[in-house]
Amino acid sequence: MNRRKVICPCYQVTKGDVADAVEKGASSFKEVKKMTRAGKGCGKCKKKVKKLTKKLLAKQ
Ligand code: FES
Repeated sequence: MNRRKVICPCYQVTKGDVADAVEKGASSFKEVKKMTRAGKGCGKCKKKVKKLTKKLLAKQ
């Protein structure tokens, strides 16, 4: 995973930011959204962020 890749252009949230949120205890897309702001704007990234969150949670 490229941690520097921006997954939510609206708020410049990177994949690494999402991974950090999961590491800090986020256990759902809703919590990742709260912690990183990913998905709070246009919503176009929602699918991608949800998918990545699921993937990261499965790895834990
Ligand atoms: S790209 Fe994430 S809210 Fe717009």
